[in-house]
Amino acid sequence: MAATPVKAPRIKLGSQGLEVSAQGLGCMGMSFYDPPKPEPDMIALIHHAVAAGVTFLDTSDIYGPHTNEILLGKALQGGVREMVELATKFGRLFVDGKPEIRGDPAYVRAACEASLRRLGIDCIDLYYQHRVDKRVPIEVTIGELKKLVEEGKIKYIGLSEASASTIRRAHAVHPITAVQLEWSLWSRDVEEDIIPTCRELGIGIVAYSPLGRGFLSSGPKLIDSLSAKDLRRNMPRLQSENLDKNIKVFERINAVATKKGCTPSQLALAWIHHQGNDVCPIPGTTKVDNFKQNVGALFVKLTPDEMAELESYTAAGEVQGDRYPTIANTWKDSETPPLSSWKSK
Ligand SMILES: NC(=O)c1ccc[n+]([C@@H]2O[C@H](COP(=O)([O-])OP(=O)(O)OC[C@H]3O[C@@H](n4cnc5c(N)ncnc54)[C@H](OP(=O)(O)O)[C@@H]3O)[C@@H](O)[C@H]2O)c1
Repeated sequence: MAATPVKAPRIKLGSQGLEVSAQGLGCMGMSFYDPPKPEPDMIALIHHAVAAGVTFLDTSDIYGPHTNEILLGKALQGGVREMVELATKFGRLFVDGKPEIRGDPAYVRAACEASLRRLGIDCIDLYYQHRVDKRVPIEVTIGELKKLVEEGKIKYIGLSEASASTIRRAHAVHPITAVQLEWSLWSRDVEEDIIPTCRELGIGIVAYSPLGRGFLSSGPKLIDSLSAKDLRRNMPRLQSENLDKNIKVFERINAVATKKGCTPSQLALAWIHHQGNDVCPIPGTTKVDNFKQNVGALFVKLTPDEMAELESYTAAGEVQGDRYPTIANTWKDSETPPLSSWKSK
């Protein structure tokens, strides 16, 4: 692997000893956005990232499904596995083509073993519940994850898109190391109670889709570049009724970037890096040039006035449309049933 002069700095994630690169690499788009990208190119990109010190790699069994983990498995061969922090997720699946969520113990165990096989590793560094199963008390799901920690199959436990109350209940069963959530200039609802809860409990924060799935990087040009089958075509924020307003938000962010002499991607990522060293954004890319640009965000400094200016452009009411289409809103975690309901089954 080629050496690079500047290495990404490292941060502690959570309170259990996990250390990761201050910026991660989201690998989903390599296999899940349409069309999937050629494996050799993506393996070369992952190796480039690791050489640049971006060692925190993010995947999930649902990306593909499965093909993204298989890709990662290939990229991790030849001593690369020892150089990275590998995060994957379970809990989202398709049954007869329909999306489902599962967090029952038998499923958790089977999913973990299948991910280990696809990744070709003995232990997952950070294993997230991708979406909370509202039929299963969170204590039951975390109880099984705790057993997987004790058996050495996973090192640290994470939650994704969990509510503040679920995070608290989960953390009482076994320390939660990281919560992954959508946090970016145009997705800020988590600031109300989920981020404060993570901070109170010493849980690391992993910001997914920090580039607004590419809209904060390219604005309306993103839509022209998407294939007919790209799942982002269904995103409410990119629909015509919302798009005009959201383009104005992008234009304002872009103007600040121009004034600052950086790219809009770098500005969006720098805004997250300035939230604190307990936050790690995991931008996704399939291009080495974009990767290099994104790492550059670690070195962009923003003043409090610049932060405030950016935040004023993206305050509640400025961005139009939900983060996800309606079907995904039905998975939104509020609260899982009490543990007693499971014991009495
Ligand atoms: N927990 C969850 O439920 C969840 C949900 C979504 C995502 N995630 C994780 O978060 C990661 C990142 O999210 P994401 O991929 O959805 O969105 P993102 O990181 O916000 O944006 C990715 C998009 O931005 C483009 N891009 C990246 N850098 C760029 C640059 N410098 N200039 C122009 N365009 C640029 C990429 O295109 P190119 O490929 O052309 O660079 C891609 O289209 C995923 O890979 C996944 O691991 C988790």
